[in-house]
Amino acid sequence: MKQFHTFRLDTVNHCLWRGEERVSLAPKAFDVLRYLVEHADRLVTQDEILNALWPETYVNPEVIKKYVLGIRKALGDPRDNPEFIETFPRRGYQFIAPVSEVISGAPTGCGISTTRKMVGREGAMAELNDYLSQALNSQRQVVFITGEAGIGKTTLVDAFHQSIANRPNVRIIRGQCVEGFGGKEAYYPVLEAIGQWVREASSGQVVQTLAKQAPTWLIQFPSLIKAEQREALQKEIHGATRERMVREICEALESLTAQDPLVLILEDLHWVDPSTLDFLSAVARRRGPAKLLLLGTYRPADLILSKSPLKALKQDLVLHDLSHEINLERLEEPDVAEYLEIHFANGDFPKTFANLIYRHSGGNALFMVNILLDMVKRGLVGQIDGIWKLKVALEDVEPRVPETLDQLIEAQFQQLSAEEQCILRSASVAGERFSVWAISTAAEMESDAIEDICERLAERLQFIKAAGINALANGQISAHYEFRHSLYREVLYRRLSDVARSKLHLHLAQRLQASCDPCEEEQSTELALHFEGGRDYEEAIRYLIVAAKNAARRFAYRDSIEILGHALELASRVTAGHRVEMRTQVLVQIGDIHYAVGNMDESAQAYEKAAAMAAESSLGTAQVTALLRLVHTMGLIDVDRAVEAVEQANQISASLSDPILHARTQMLAPCARLYYHTWRSQDAELFAAGKETIDRLTGGIYPEMHYAHLHPLQGRYREALRIAEDGILKVIETSNTVAYLLALGMKAVALMHLGRLGETHQLLRAAIERAEKNGNDPWVLKIREAWLHTAGMDFAGAQELCTAMIRSNSGYPTGQPKAIAWFAAGNAALLEGRHDEALQDFRRVIDENVTPKFFLHWYWRIHAQFGLVNAWLAAGNLEEARVEAGRLLEAALATADPSLQALAWEAKARLGMAEKNWQSAEESVQNGQVILEKFEIPTAAWRVDGTAWDFYQQTNNQKAAETHRKRAEACILKITNSFAPEEPLRATFLAAAPIRRILGENVPAKVSRQPKLRHGAAH
Ligand SMILES: Nc1ncnc2c1ncn2[C@@H]1O[C@H](COP(=O)(O)OP(=O)(O)O)[C@@H](O)[C@H]1O
Ligand SMILES: [Mg+2]
Repeated sequence: MKQFHTFRLDTVNHCLWRGEERVSLAPKAFDVLRYLVEHADRLVTQDEILNALWPETYVNPEVIKKYVLGIRKALGDPRDNPEFIETFPRRGYQFIAPVSEVISGAPTGCGISTTRKMVGREGAMAELNDYLSQALNSQRQVVFITGEAGIGKTTLVDAFHQSIANRPNVRIIRGQCVEGFGGKEAYYPVLEAIGQWVREASSGQVVQTLAKQAPTWLIQFPSLIKAEQREALQKEIHGATRERMVREICEALESLTAQDPLVLILEDLHWVDPSTLDFLSAVARRRGPAKLLLLGTYRPADLILSKSPLKALKQDLVLHDLSHEINLERLEEPDVAEYLEIHFANGDFPKTFANLIYRHSGGNALFMVNILLDMVKRGLVGQIDGIWKLKVALEDVEPRVPETLDQLIEAQFQQLSAEEQCILRSASVAGERFSVWAISTAAEMESDAIEDICERLAERLQFIKAAGINALANGQISAHYEFRHSLYREVLYRRLSDVARSKLHLHLAQRLQASCDPCEEEQSTELALHFEGGRDYEEAIRYLIVAAKNAARRFAYRDSIEILGHALELASRVTAGHRVEMRTQVLVQIGDIHYAVGNMDESAQAYEKAAAMAAESSLGTAQVTALLRLVHTMGLIDVDRAVEAVEQANQISASLSDPILHARTQMLAPCARLYYHTWRSQDAELFAAGKETIDRLTGGIYPEMHYAHLHPLQGRYREALRIAEDGILKVIETSNTVAYLLALGMKAVALMHLGRLGETHQLLRAAIERAEKNGNDPWVLKIREAWLHTAGMDFAGAQELCTAMIRSNSGYPTGQPKAIAWFAAGNAALLEGRHDEALQDFRRVIDENVTPKFFLHWYWRIHAQFGLVNAWLAAGNLEEARVEAGRLLEAALATADPSLQALAWEAKARLGMAEKNWQSAEESVQNGQVILEKFEIPTAAWRVDGTAWDFYQQTNNQKAAETHRKRAEACILKITNSFAPEEPLRATFLAAAPIRRILGENVPAKVSRQPKLRHGAAH
């Protein structure tokens, strides 16, 4: 460690110490100082600094000037007579103070010897060292340092930090909770600490570990992710949950601390957010080895006031011996005496002076320090001939000491100039740490003037201290300051009148808003706080919605809902004119978050409420918006309500003058009827017309995902595949898990129709496993998987999957898995010659009283109809078979689905053959072939060609027969070859009797031949 004067530069942990006090410096300012110190023997030019610190980007040399200015301030180095940094105008800088190297000695055992200013606390320091030793022994330690404001928690932590900073390999990282961020910034202090770690040049290993073990955390630091990594990473973590996020960071920390110890300091946990609490709880409860010492500080009284769940957590942890507490007692009288000795070296005070200070301060360190400072300032204590003395009689001091720390701060404040007061008032609203820039409009002064005044206050050790020069969100550089202790800020903030306070908040909010438009995501919480304080509730709600989305990106959905709950409260304070509108807006957001994670009932409730509320106040647009969202949710749980909602939306939007909104409802209404009721060509036309209108109105940018299912229903499988693949790329950037699963499901359906069953299987398996690992319910994918098994002739497998789904009680309706299970059971029974059972099963699928409607229920019912024809044919009941085949054909021809139609003709052809009605059979065979010419549908084609083969054999046209058998075989091989050789589903498919019949002797070995297909048709 480099030392100069009382300063020490800790290059491992990137911090600067003045004695035992940590001096705040922005990371770049630290780098500049470090560079100067490391080259202290010579002049360093601006270019050299630029090349060394910003090798890849262009930076205005002015910036260096600003940073040096900031460093000077932090060091307290006067420009005209510098002690540390000398400026050579237009050339550069030289570090002129003597620099020495502090040898990083062996651990001292107790840090007290390196600290000069801290008094007392020997016991606490010894305890901390003890915990550290245990941590070094791979026994993780969670330690809470508690005590009232100003008792000395931060001082203790700093002293400990400093005492171990010299130890080789011990890493120390810190995060700070911020008042007001509690419920709104998930993992704030943890992200701060980890962020500081990973951004350092030497942190390659940390980044790698995060990439491997904690991708949900790595993604929170976008600048660390290479563009080509991003997509894979997004895919890997999509739909992650809180549990996974917490587990991952624990695992990563365990890996990282297997060798080198880590001290993680989280300060002021009385303002902690619930997600950080999850983290704390998990770290404390996990049992694996880790050289980890987690130190958290908080004020117990504030926990009670804020009803923070930390209280219960800590009690539980202590009870189970999973954490320790160091409760800082007040300083004792001898400590005060020692403090006097250290700080007034060479002092000569009456014996009872320490007792007086002790009594008044009650042993609160901050109070003690302040009383003494105040006495010096007021001339009660001063130097006479170089010796510190009490300048008045001891009895005269007593009445002049304020009763409480608050009063003392108040009195100090009163003595400041009007300008100083004004600046501090604004600053108290801005926060513990503030930029001169931010408060400049509220204080109505030029930035330079404000900076000068802040500088003077800092020099006089009053209220604030310099916190370096930092870049703002808008790229501007501004000096920052922070309160010497949060109590100062709290006292000043409390004494503001309501009116003054909200005015200042509003000023700040507007100033911040102007600075950060492109990056509002980062500052949304702060903006929301200030707008709320400034009573601009509409703006506050706007930013809370952004904050809720941020929380969702951190997989903290519970926090998202909480943030929106707060927004809903604020909505009731919005002026009457906009109140309902704001409420419905927030409710829709709440519905969205629930939808995204699959809480369909809650999602529906929120949308219903929003719609009802909007209806009551005749807010048409808001009502339609809520209803349209409701359609998507209800589509998964109650399709009749979905159709009802969209019809209602359609009616209302017709009377609004919002053409895009109306076009949306006009497109969605027929679409919903097609999905949830039945296929009708009029609706398909209405949809197409609606789509044309909206493309015209929006320039064709309207998202297509939801409508993509219409394509396969009309035989446009490749179009469906393209949209699904595009959709997956888009939705992966969001945190909408359900939309992502639906997009994957869409892709699976398209692939399946194209005969690529093996790929479909792999896609679904991987996605289901990922979703389950993430703790999501991949219900929509499991349905597709069961569907796939029916297409692959694995009816037992399909049944099993459906039964598991029904049993899992996922909260989704069971109509669809039941229908697929019966359909599969019917087919299995058919293959085994149990026709009666098959009939029963297929009838169950068709009967709406047994199987209520679900998404595309009619599609499954038509398939069951096909099953009925087969069952009657197999039973030899031609009468019934004819009736059902007629119904089947009628139903299939009413759709636009080539696959259903081809199968209906195929069934009719078999009926014709059974009846020896050769003309009808031939007609049906030909109709089936016409469809196969136009569409690539291998999953239906093998049956259709297989039947054509039979027909031509029976009618003695061997050549044509063989052509069709070959085609059927080619389709089967195409399907077979899409599977991996070892995939059991492939074997099941090949073993099915209807397949074997067609392949005859030609059953492919595991290494497959490339089939030749006749189609070029790419629909
Ligand atoms: N043990 C100590 N010895 C000397 N001064 C102390 C001690 N503890 C605290 N102080 C002084 O009191 C101030 C407030 O202490 P701090 O550690 O910030 O309190 P907390 O973090 O508990 O609110 C510090 O700035 C420091 O000047
Ligand atoms: Mg503190």
